[in-house]
Amino acid sequence: MKTSGKTSGGTGVSRRAFMAVTMAAAAGCTTVRRGQAPVAAASVSLPALPYAQDALAPVISAQTISFHYGKHHQGYVTTLNKLLPGTPFAGMSLEEIVCRTADKAEYATLFNNAAQVWNHTFYWQSLMPVGKERMVSSKLTAAINKAFGSMTECNAALADAAMKQFGSGWAWLVAEKGALKVVRTPNAETPLTQAGVTPLLTIDVWEHAYYLDWQNKRADYVKAVLDRLMNWTFASENYEKI
Ligand code: FE2
Repeated sequence: MKTSGKTSGGTGVSRRAFMAVTMAAAAGCTTVRRGQAPVAAASVSLPALPYAQDALAPVISAQTISFHYGKHHQGYVTTLNKLLPGTPFAGMSLEEIVCRTADKAEYATLFNNAAQVWNHTFYWQSLMPVGKERMVSSKLTAAINKAFGSMTECNAALADAAMKQFGSGWAWLVAEKGALKVVRTPNAETPLTQAGVTPLLTIDVWEHAYYLDWQNKRADYVKAVLDRLMNWTFASENYEKI
């Protein structure tokens, strides 16, 4: 991993398909609720992966991606588009749907599917192919050192959160009022809905994310992801937008 005064690199042209999501991450629900949400769409679509399905092997195999992206992520998109017609959220952007259904018991199923679409799109961008150069900005490096002491300690905090998340969920690096911290969320919950919080990176710790490759060894999956796949360029870009 290299430190740079600016972010660079990235994962290719298809990254543009994810820009609405990353912009929303920078904005969070606070901005969405002020009526500055990304442009709405007639339906929610599944963004293209920002790399080939075998690009994360051997840490995450093409077979895992084919199920995780092609079945689970697609499944959330399909279910969401079936649930939306006739609700107040039809035609809204994905980010608005997530933010406006959060903590509303009557819309729990809709929220779960919308948030899982958003979380997975963010997860795919949080990873990048093995061997690709990872650039972490000087601004993010300084924030990591201030919050955790070092990148090693930051990774240890992410690994700890990923292991302590009981059952299905997510480990996140986030910024809150500019300061970094690691949080974990259960099931479909997402820091996107928390006021003033900007997601920077995430690791999916649902069993469907790793069981085909790592079986019950979540710790090994998490370590391999942190050591070889984390997209610090993406995190740097998210942090620069705050
Ligand atoms: Fe997942």
